Amino acid sequence: MKKIIVVGLLIAAAAPGCKTHYPVATSSFSMPAGKPDMERGKNLAFNVCGQCHYNHKKNSFVGEEMRELPGFMGTIYSANLTHGHIADQYTDKELFYLIKTGVGKDGRFIPYMIRPTIADEDLRDIIAYLRSNDEPLQENNASAGETHVSFLGKIAGKIGGSPLDYHYDTPPPPDAPVKEGRYLVDIVGCYHCHSKSIISLNYNNPEDSKGYMAGGMKFKVDGDKVYASNLTPDKETGIGRYGTESFRRALQEGIALDGRELHYPMPRFRHLTDAQCDAILAYIQTLEPKTNHVKGQ
Ligand code: HEC
Ligand code: HEC
Repeated sequence: MKKIIVVGLLIAAAAPGCKTHYPVATSSFSMPAGKPDMERGKNLAFNVCGQCHYNHKKNSFVGEEMRELPGFMGTIYSANLTHGHIADQYTDKELFYLIKTGVGKDGRFIPYMIRPTIADEDLRDIIAYLRSNDEPLQENNASAGETHVSFLGKIAGKIGGSPLDYHYDTPPPPDAPVKEGRYLVDIVGCYHCHSKSIISLNYNNPEDSKGYMAGGMKFKVDGDKVYASNLTPDKETGIGRYGTESFRRALQEGIALDGRELHYPMPRFRHLTDAQCDAILAYIQTLEPKTNHVKGQ
């Protein structure tokens, strides 16, 4: 089975059985007006939600097992977003609120996918796409599995993490690649893995996260250790030697500059366009180079 990525609050992951409940979507915000851009909605649904909810083998948003949660947490599956399942039970507004704040329609805190800074217009476009009849969204009843959260997982869920406040955000202006790149690193969640630690991430101001983009985070994958690379433009220990073509290849195909295949959990971003990859690189090149020699890089 294709392993899937958890970006986000692993330790702060709230257990489904958690008793803590929070106020649900209220009238304190409104969905942005205007006609959704379906092409952008599809692109972002794949690049953001697809990391956890899209199954490549089945070409479906049917959901997946979250494989790299610490073992003590139990087994957790992402939800089935095809028609006829949980997403259909959400109103647009409730979905919107879930992604922005982490609070589900039943008041449960579901931290895996908080994107407090995602632009309201973009979220509107994503939701419009998820409501469409595009093939990957057609009803699929193949269940990924049932979530089982251990006792320790429930405790972990209780001690860390709480919902974020809703605030309005706008998309980056057109023809401003550095701003677009910064935004993509934020909402796609590159910095969730490529900073120092999962517990010192700053979701409202990603650049204030400890060791922002300088790498070093450790993942245990099938008994092996994999470390996220230093993505600052340092020539010796970062990605300073990458150019446009090699950077696109790393993101879209998972091939590093030296030709080696990048390990899981580095995702294959097949749906990032060339322009999006170039924008991310343009932004990264504005960061201060940090010397941080990451094992294996
Ligand atoms: C980092 C992985 C990850 C990302 C990214 C992600 N999700 Fe999820 N999502 C999950 C997991 C895990 C669950 C199941 C959580 C649970 O049941 O406790 C879930 C559950 C859901 C649910 C069901 C909530 C409920 O009440 O049970 C919806 C709806 C959902 N996600 C929509 C989305 C949308 C829309 C996006 C993109 C904007 C997205 N998700 C991005 C991991 C993710
Ligand atoms: C779920 C965690 C995760 C996410 C999300 C993630 N990465 Fe990675 N990335 C990794 C890991 C782990 C490696 C190291 C893999 C290896 O050494 O084989 C890596 C390696 C890389 C490399 C290779 C650098 C080198 O030569 O060593 C690049 C470039 C990269 N990531 C860019 C990105 C960008 C840009 C994003 C967001 C669009 C992103 N990554 C999102 C985990 C992640």
